[in-house]
Amino acid sequence: MAKSKVKSTKSPRTQAIHGEFLSKSWEFSHHLIPPMTASTTFRLESLGRGAEGFSTFGAPTEKPIWIYDRLEEPTTKMLEDQLALLEKGECAITFGSGMGAISSTLMTLLKAGDKVVAHKTLYGCTYSLLKNWLPRLDIENHMIDINDFKVLEDHLADPATRVVYFESVSNPILEIADLEKITGLVKQANKKRGADRKTYTVVDNTFPTPWALRPIEWGVDFVIQSLTKNISGFGTEMGGAVIAPKAFEGLLRMARKDFGAIIHPYSAWHILVYGISTQAVRFEQQQSTALKVAQFLEKHPKIESVTYPGLKSHSQFKLAKKYLVSPEGDFSPGTMISFQLKGNMKKCQKFVDDIAKNSYSITLAVSLGLVKTLIEVPGFMTHSAIPDDKRGESGIDPRAIRLSIGLENSRDIIGDLEEALNKI
Ligand SMILES: Cc1ncc(COP(=O)(O)O)c(C=O)c1O
Repeated sequence: MAKSKVKSTKSPRTQAIHGEFLSKSWEFSHHLIPPMTASTTFRLESLGRGAEGFSTFGAPTEKPIWIYDRLEEPTTKMLEDQLALLEKGECAITFGSGMGAISSTLMTLLKAGDKVVAHKTLYGCTYSLLKNWLPRLDIENHMIDINDFKVLEDHLADPATRVVYFESVSNPILEIADLEKITGLVKQANKKRGADRKTYTVVDNTFPTPWALRPIEWGVDFVIQSLTKNISGFGTEMGGAVIAPKAFEGLLRMARKDFGAIIHPYSAWHILVYGISTQAVRFEQQQSTALKVAQFLEKHPKIESVTYPGLKSHSQFKLAKKYLVSPEGDFSPGTMISFQLKGNMKKCQKFVDDIAKNSYSITLAVSLGLVKTLIEVPGFMTHSAIPDDKRGESGIDPRAIRLSIGLENSRDIIGDLEEALNKI
């Protein structure tokens, strides 16, 4: 079989290692590993070529004309091709962070007078973007339970609603969005709209990663990834991406060019070469440990509740089984756990401080999806942008503790948790 055809018949696990063997962005005849390009600007052999590069910027092309790093460059383009392949999208555009991808996507889809309908539980900075920044541009936001279909339908009946935004698995409380139902309702509503007034679904798929869920297969329009997390995996790079319909590629690239939230080629290279090629293996190992840790916590007498999509006790276990599936068909409940101790906030603080001070394998730190196990208290850390009086509405108990499981031996993680639990 010709090497250029390999990608369509091989598992995404294999595609993540080899990508498009014959990338349009580089000549692979002599390189085993994609190169890292490090040139902010590119040599142009004629004014005509320079003018063509600018006039065709953002348009689909077989042979890109490289001009300037902030516009587009080869290593980043190779990363984008890989991300589009794994998320099953038409194209991907990368950014300097997950927030760069989210803000640029919303700025691309919305204008004054429009309305965003979003799930009530969102990553703290996304919440802040919707609450603090979009209203300045006269863009309204409505926070709802995205799985409350009646309320969603009512909002969709309003032609001002242009974006439905949510996380496929919510940060930090691991609710699962019913993608098929939601995209079905949006499709229905769009039948009554003109092509220029459509509502788009934008889904942050950072928690599951494409290894556990591919929202585009369920009819979602735009998928967001914070590459900083599991896809990068080692805690050394920041990055973000939107996987989008081809028709929006030009606008999204223009948003990146003009807002300037580019990923550094060095980071793009690390994510492409080390992150993507090892993501499936890391994710599966971290996930198998997460199940053991969740089962340990669930049985512990000092624990009030544990939320993990792999536990039968998860209130949406049926939805978890439906949506969280690897490209190879295995149930993939992920690497994130949320739990609460019995007792008050003081007890929670004592426990977390003890972990921070004495645990060898668990670190008190934000971020997630990394090779090191991380613990944090979202209400006071990652989600502190949500005001105290709104936290309840968001479903985030101040005592909720978030665990991101790493690659350590499960016995060590459980041992460290047990030791800290014994002290409270
Ligand atoms: C679900 C989710 N989306 C987006 C982001 C933002 O990503 P970044 O930190 O890369 O900007 C985060 C960060 O924690 C997140 O957890």
